[in-house]
Parts: sequence; structure tokens; C-alpha cells
Amino acid sequence: MSDNTEVNYGPLAGLIGVWSGNKGTDLAPEPDGTETNEYYETITFTEAGDVSNAEEQVISAVHYMQKVQRISNDKVIHQETGYWMWEQDSNQVMHSLTIPRGMAVLAGGSFKEAENITFDVQASIDSKDWQLVQSPFMREKAKLKEYVQQLILGENSLSYTQTMVLDIYGRVFDHTDQNTLQRQ
Ligand code: HEM
Repeated sequence: MSDNTEVNYGPLAGLIGVWSGNKGTDLAPEPDGTETNEYYETITFTEAGDVSNAEEQVISAVHYMQKVQRISNDKVIHQETGYWMWEQDSNQVMHSLTIPRGMAVLAGGSFKEAENITFDVQASIDSKDWQLVQSPFMREKAKLKEYVQQLILGENSLSYTQTMVLDIYGRVFDHTDQNTLQRQ
């Protein structure tokens, strides 16, 4: 691990800071249908420095914590923490995350830089590279089969859409979220 002061965060640099937004929409599974939740949230990204792996691969990382609350009753409906990582040589990006349901994801992908920076990552139960980890209970009752996320980073705006394909209540359900946040 290096001293954070001289780290090159590449496309991740603009994430560092505190973001909040109150225009979120979540579609979550119910036994007999879909629950729609309007939400607000805060995501805090902090510098995590860089690492070298096997003396070959250099990765820069930012750490984040996300807290999501339902607008109608302020209940916390989602918490998440993880890292966004950028590999300098290949330009590959990775997103690792865990949520307190007994579930973790390591998604991989790429980014495109134009007026904004667009990150696309995914992981799947069928992928040999980008995988999902879940407790035996979740594997049995609410299995995560696929994770797809797009993040669009502008100077002061951060938008995302994500789909978690779940096998729950005897059917396949696309659990989706989207929001646009502003830099605080
Ligand atoms: C903004 C992000 C998210 C929000 C607001 C959100 C919200 C919710 C809500 C409200 C439920 C229904 C809970 C219930 O009825 O008991 C749910 C279920 C679930 N979520 Fe999320 N979620 C988010 C992201 C994620 C992510 C990233 C994952 C996995 C990587 C995930 C996995 C699940 C699973 C497996 C369930 C099924 C559990 C159940 O309903 O019994 N969610 N989520």
C-alpha cells in the first residue's frame, strides 16, 4: 500500500467525495408481485490508495459507503460498502461490494471517457471471472444470479442504474435501482 498523496486514481478520481440524491427508484421482490420504493441516499467515496499484486498488477482503489432510505418513512432499506478499482495497465475496472444480507459481488468491466465517464461492470453466477458469493440461505431462497451496473460520472453529478437478477419466490425477478446524485 502506498501513501495516498501520490496515487493516480485515473477515471476514479472524480468519485472521491460525498454524494447525495433523492430521486431514487427501487423495484424489489414481493411474494405476490413488486414493491416500488422511492428513496434518497448518501454515498461517501474516500481514497484507498494503491496496491501491487504479485509484483505485476497495480490497482488504485476508492472505498465507498452507501446508505439508502425510503422517502415515505425514512427507513433504511439498503446499505452497501465496497471498492471501485482501476488497473492502470489494462484500464480494467472492478467493483467489489458487500451487503448485509450475506451477499458479496466482484464485478468487472470497463469505462469510456467522453464528456462524462461511463463505467459498465457485471458479474454472474455463470461467469468464470466475475463472481457472486452468497450464504447457503440466500442461495436457496433468494439467489443472486446476475449483477449489472452502469455508473455515469460527471463533474458534479453521479447517476447509476443496476439490475440484480434474483431467483426468489419461485420466479426470476429483476431487482432494479436507479438514482442521480449531486456532489455535496
Ligand atoms: C439502491 C440499492 C438497493 C435498494 C434500495 C434495495 C432495496 C431492497 C428492498 C426494499 C428489498 C425488499 C426487502 C423486503 O421486502 O424484505 C430488497 C430485497 C433484496 N435485495 Fe435489494 N436493494 C438494493 C440493492 C441491492 C443489491 C446491490 C443487491 C445484491 C447485490 C440486493 C439484493 C437483494 C436481495 C437478494 C433481496 C431479496 C431479499 C428479500 O426480499 O427477502 N439489493 N432490496
